[in-house]
Amino acid sequence: MIKDIQNDIIKLKKEKDVCILAHSYVAQEIKEIADFTGDSFALAVKSANVPQKTVIMCGVRFMAETVKILAPEKRVILSNPIAGCPMAEQMDRELIEQVKEQYPDYAVVAYINTTADLKTICDVCVTSSSAVEICRKIDSDKILFIPDINLGSYVAQQLPEKEFKLLSGGCPRHAMISEKKVLEAIKAHPKAKVLVHPECKPEVVKHADYVGSTSGIMNFAKESKDREFIIGTEISIAEELQYECPDKKFYPMAKDLICSNMKATTLVDVLNCLKGTFGEEITMEEEKRLQAKKCIDEMIRLG
Ligand code: 13P
Ligand code: SF4
Repeated sequence: MIKDIQNDIIKLKKEKDVCILAHSYVAQEIKEIADFTGDSFALAVKSANVPQKTVIMCGVRFMAETVKILAPEKRVILSNPIAGCPMAEQMDRELIEQVKEQYPDYAVVAYINTTADLKTICDVCVTSSSAVEICRKIDSDKILFIPDINLGSYVAQQLPEKEFKLLSGGCPRHAMISEKKVLEAIKAHPKAKVLVHPECKPEVVKHADYVGSTSGIMNFAKESKDREFIIGTEISIAEELQYECPDKKFYPMAKDLICSNMKATTLVDVLNCLKGTFGEEITMEEEKRLQAKKCIDEMIRLG
């Protein structure tokens, strides 16, 4: 049954000149039919250069918006209209405009998990894989980092020479992991290396042997000579690693760390997007798109 739907998708996407992009957190059966799978940074960079006329983004809304910003000539379909990212909705343009007035000499660095509207007033975007490098390179020693306080704290710790102002936003899923959970996992698997996403709280991150994006965590685990790993991010990463590296052992740090938004898209949704009966086409005013594009272009230039 799954194979049949996958075969229909593969046939239709070729006939209709469609590229399917999938974030690493979506269901495995979707990643199997995707043309490209990766973390937020890789998906953003890839989307600007795909040859197909239509892109179906299997992920969350801000990712589909990013594709539209970078490739306005393409039809961009969000695979399931309910798939938002709670963090991206936490702060709006009006709020950040007020904060900017209080800190006029700070560069505004926005995690890519923000709306297109908010990106229009930011100086540069970052992803979890590029945040430290971009904050290091940007031509300002004062940084207002939005919206993720945990990623912001991690970056600030790596760059003590810069001054950071953080606001209290973040990923509700990653923030669920407590220090107690990490210590329990380490006690249960003392030989395992601890790999953690920087959206986790600082008291969790401090126990990590490696901190990085979803792709960073996967690459680290695949290339490592170690055999056991505790994975501190969405559960699909531990599952995929276990599938790809059967000779190693992967333990999810929290079995309930599931992003329901990333999991909102089903294989049938993707098929229906291709048939034109489901999904949401992303549209954007040209002025807003050009404003938002500046900080994504800056991210790609510095990243
Ligand atoms: P990365 O894709 O940068 O690892 O971020 C994870 C995430 O939460 C995406 O929303
Ligand atoms: Fe948003 Fe967190 Fe889900 Fe990523 S894991 S999409 S930050 S809610």
